Order: sequence, then structure tokens, then C-alpha cells
Amino acid sequence: MPRYSGPAIILHWLVALGIVANVALAWIWPHLADARVRPAIDMHKSIGITVLGLAIMRLLWRLTHRPPPLPASYRRWEVGAAHAVHGLLYLLIFAMPLTGWIMDSAYKNAATTPMYWFGLFEWPRIAAILHMAPGPRDRIHDGFGAAHVWLSYAVYALVALHIAGALKHQWWDKHRELQRMLP
Ligand code: HEM
Repeated sequence: MPRYSGPAIILHWLVALGIVANVALAWIWPHLADARVRPAIDMHKSIGITVLGLAIMRLLWRLTHRPPPLPASYRRWEVGAAHAVHGLLYLLIFAMPLTGWIMDSAYKNAATTPMYWFGLFEWPRIAAILHMAPGPRDRIHDGFGAAHVWLSYAVYALVALHIAGALKHQWWDKHRELQRMLP
């Protein structure tokens, strides 16, 4: 049975872990005591920037390494649906971190509250946004903040479809689907 290459498998599961962790944090922080909200959001930002780095590596690997072909028995609509969902998920693993980073760069106190990547080193804000006049900067903050939230709904829908598709092939069609992406 053809499988994905080792780096593709590692990058797939690291990105999946980062997204699950970030969605979990965003669901949890509204219920935390005030003093614990900031650290949770800082952790969310660090994980999100890490996902962006992993997404870049994933895309480069994908462009230079062909994935194993889907089994010939898959129907045309299934192949089309799988490719559409994969393409949109690739878009989202870039769009989620980028909208977050842009929103964070436009945060009104960004210049006086630096962001640290897991507390280790300062992660830069996007200078062109950081130094904007307050009016347009606030509009960028609200617009990209809203995009971040709307895109998160797309993440829920597409991740659900992605998992449903994989499990349908695994359990219903009795293909060794998960083994393609497991070490
Ligand atoms: C894997 C990447 C990411 C995912 C999956 C993700 C997911 C989410 C989700 C689900 C929410 C809650 C949306 C809601 O209110 O329903 C959220 C909010 C937020 N995210 Fe992200 N995020 C990611 C990356 C980032 C990055 C890189 C940053 C900043 C550097 C960031 C900053 C924020 C902030 C500040 C909020 C709070 C918005 C508000 O409530 O005002 N996110 N994110």
C-alpha cells in the first residue's frame, strides 16, 4: 500500500496538533480567570506562528514530492471532494496564522507590548501595520479579526469533512486509508 513520505507525515500531524491546540485554547480562554487569559492568548499566538512555519515547510515539500496516488477504486466525486478539501485546508493553514498575525500587528498596544515566541525571543509585528495611523490601523485590526473568526468556522467545517472522509474510507469502504498517513 503506498504511503506518504516521512516528512509529509510528520508535518501533517504537527500542523493538525497545532490547529487542535489553538482551537481548544480559543474555546477555553473565555472561561478562564482574568490573570490566565493573557498567557493563554500568548500561547495561542506562539502556536499559530509555529503553524505558519510548518505550513511553509509543508507546501515546499508538497511542491517537490508527489503524494501517493489515491486508490483506483475511488469514485470520481470522491477524488474531486478529497482534492477540494485538501486544497482549502492548505489555504487555511496559511490564512489562519496570517490573519492572526496581521490582527495582532494592528493591536493598539502592540508597540508597547511585544510578543514573545513561547517566551523565548521577540516575534516581530508587521512594521507597515504597526506604524500606521490609528484610524486605518484599527480598521485593519477589526477587519482581520473578523476574518480570523470567519475562517475559523471554515476550519471547523473542513476539518470535519476531512476526518469524515478518512473514516468513511477506513471503516465503510474497508480501505487502509489511515495507514497512508501513519508512521
Ligand atoms: C493555527 C493557526 C490558528 C488557528 C487555528 C486559530 C484559531 C482561532 C480561533 C478558533 C479563535 C476564536 C474565534 C472565535 O472567537 O470564535 C481565535 C482567536 C484569536 N486568535 Fe487565532 N488562530 C490561529 C493563529 C493565530 C495567530 C498566529 C495569532 C496572532 C499572532 C492569533 C491571534 C488571535 C487572537 C488575538 C484572537 C482573539 C480575537 C478576539 O477574540 O478578539 N491567532 N483564533
